[in-house]
Amino acid sequence: MKNFVSVKDVGNIDALVQKALAYKADPFADKTIGSHKRLGCLFLNPSMRTRISTQVAAHNLGMEVIVFNVGSEGWALEFEEEAIMSGNTVEHVKDAAPILGKYFDILAIRTFPSLKNREEDYSELHIQQFIRYAGIPVLSLESATLHPLQSLADIITITENFKEKRKPRVVLSWAPHIKPLPQCVANSFAQWINGWGKADFIITHPEDYELGEEFTQGASILHDQEEALKDADFVYVKNWSTYHDYGKIYTNDPKWQLKHKRWMHTNHAKVMHCLPVRRNVELSDEILDGPMSIVTEQAANRVWAAQAVLSEMLKHHD
Ligand code: CP
Repeated sequence: MKNFVSVKDVGNIDALVQKALAYKADPFADKTIGSHKRLGCLFLNPSMRTRISTQVAAHNLGMEVIVFNVGSEGWALEFEEEAIMSGNTVEHVKDAAPILGKYFDILAIRTFPSLKNREEDYSELHIQQFIRYAGIPVLSLESATLHPLQSLADIITITENFKEKRKPRVVLSWAPHIKPLPQCVANSFAQWINGWGKADFIITHPEDYELGEEFTQGASILHDQEEALKDADFVYVKNWSTYHDYGKIYTNDPKWQLKHKRWMHTNHAKVMHCLPVRRNVELSDEILDGPMSIVTEQAANRVWAAQAVLSEMLKHHD
């Protein structure tokens, strides 16, 4: 594995899940494979789980980690080729990235979409420019359209929580939110679940909240949440803004908030969310504080997902 920016960089999802679970059972099994290797973590946006779980994972492998909050502490970066930099940006990525490539062995980056220009966001300009100019392997800590480390942790969590011989029924359920959010988590979850192929996968959302078909192909799409939740084994609750009329909120209908009454239609489903979550907007206290919630376990698995991926990247590092 050279770069890790999407499920397409993974040869065998189950093997990666098993590697993560092996690290969960024995965190220091490979405590020296990262010795004398340095991970640079660049954050253009805020984070708690991704930042800390990646640091813990890298330390477990013996790596040194340097975190740089570019968004709040660094020079404003320019990503466009042939830009005339007479505006707010101070340094071009083609100047900054090769330097970071000399300081680090692996470069991890978190960026968010603008939610203003779909074509630009979906071209993944920011992370692709780092890949182009850094000259070292690049690990996505969430990009404009995907959140692959989150999705790997999600599949680890489903694997741990489902022991029956049949396929689990997994429902990705849109939730209301007060501001437009990226489609990254939903796109990525759909891409990984479809790539994994070991679940019956349903996506439920209000009309006009369709995600890009490149991610959802293979899933059943339902606009009736109650019908979608029927017999669900897992419900992944997440808001996203509109994709087609890009980055908008069309509805905040509180009926889409997952509450206990709706949850009763499921097969005692485990409830997931990537966090942070707006309580009593996306999910009710009753659900989040109830025995059906596995959100803490899911977030804790971020460490093992990051450790498995870093370990694979180190294996192929010269
Ligand atoms: N789920 C997730 O990416 O959390 P953070 O934004 O806190 O990293």
